[in-house]
Amino acid sequence: MQRIAVVTSGGDAPGMNACIRAIYRAGKFYGVEVYGIRRGYAGMIEGDFYKIERHDVGNIIHQGGTILGTSRSREFMTPEGRQKAADMLLEHEIDGLILIGGDGSFRGGNLLSCETGIPIIAIPGTIDNDIPGTDFSIGFDTAVNIALESIDRIRDTAISHGRLFFVEVMGHTSSFIALEAGIAGGAAQLVLHDGHEEIEELCNQLESLFRMGKHHAIVVIAEGDQPGCSFGISKKVSQRIQMESRVCVLGHTQRGGSPTARDRVLAAKLGISAVSALIEGQNGVMVGELMREIAYHPINDVVGKIRDPDPRITALSKILTGY
Ligand code: F6P
Repeated sequence: MQRIAVVTSGGDAPGMNACIRAIYRAGKFYGVEVYGIRRGYAGMIEGDFYKIERHDVGNIIHQGGTILGTSRSREFMTPEGRQKAADMLLEHEIDGLILIGGDGSFRGGNLLSCETGIPIIAIPGTIDNDIPGTDFSIGFDTAVNIALESIDRIRDTAISHGRLFFVEVMGHTSSFIALEAGIAGGAAQLVLHDGHEEIEELCNQLESLFRMGKHHAIVVIAEGDQPGCSFGISKKVSQRIQMESRVCVLGHTQRGGSPTARDRVLAAKLGISAVSALIEGQNGVMVGELMREIAYHPINDVVGKIRDPDPRITALSKILTGY
């Protein structure tokens, strides 16, 4: 293994830069050249590669986003697109690839590895935290803390006006951010899209809270597969309980900003472990962290298998809300 490449793909996540830096440094440590691929799979197909130098990864540890850029490439989802990408990897004499991304990116990377035999190690990097085989993915902790900061700010104005607020958080179909930010932010209710979304039940809970003397409330909503869904929910609830409400969709603010210490350390551990995995000859595996131990799983076993939050945490949230 003389030359490896790193690519970031799909939605960016805070901590990706810390991971790229760790990969570069591990490369130096083990005597392996590290190339960066710009703009995700789109850049891989176009051969947008460069040798990462020390100055490229200087002063990026605290930056959100990804210095490599990213994309959601449709072309890479076709066999022809992946063949072009494989040709480019060959042309640049890349012996192994490290992929940082989420489930969609893993799917493409796995196909590339199976079809061409190019050794690939995947690193979970998504704010959604919905990847099996790791307790946390890079970016999740930062996203939760950003959502929490916003919820705390909204609480100030909610109290001042005596208002009902609906705060919608990202996560696509997974509810990890909603659950953790909702618990930490003291949400009155959570809407998690876990199959138990009952507007009538939500209205009853809120009515009972207001009857008990509460004069403001924050409901945290997981966006699900319909970002902006909280507008419809707030309208229905306001009409039904005859109370004015406001909606705040946090959206992409949750993906930006400086990564937390937890995300930076996770990024460092996973980046270094990915480089040593390639050097040891591993292929087609995802490196994650389970119970503070580095864990490797075949990408095949994690791809398409979206992880749900621990039911014990969901149960706990039910105890904390509604009183
Ligand atoms: O996968 C990360 C994520 O931020 C999801 O939580 C969200 O639904 C989606 O990406 C948004 O994607 P885009 O940036 O392409 O609008």
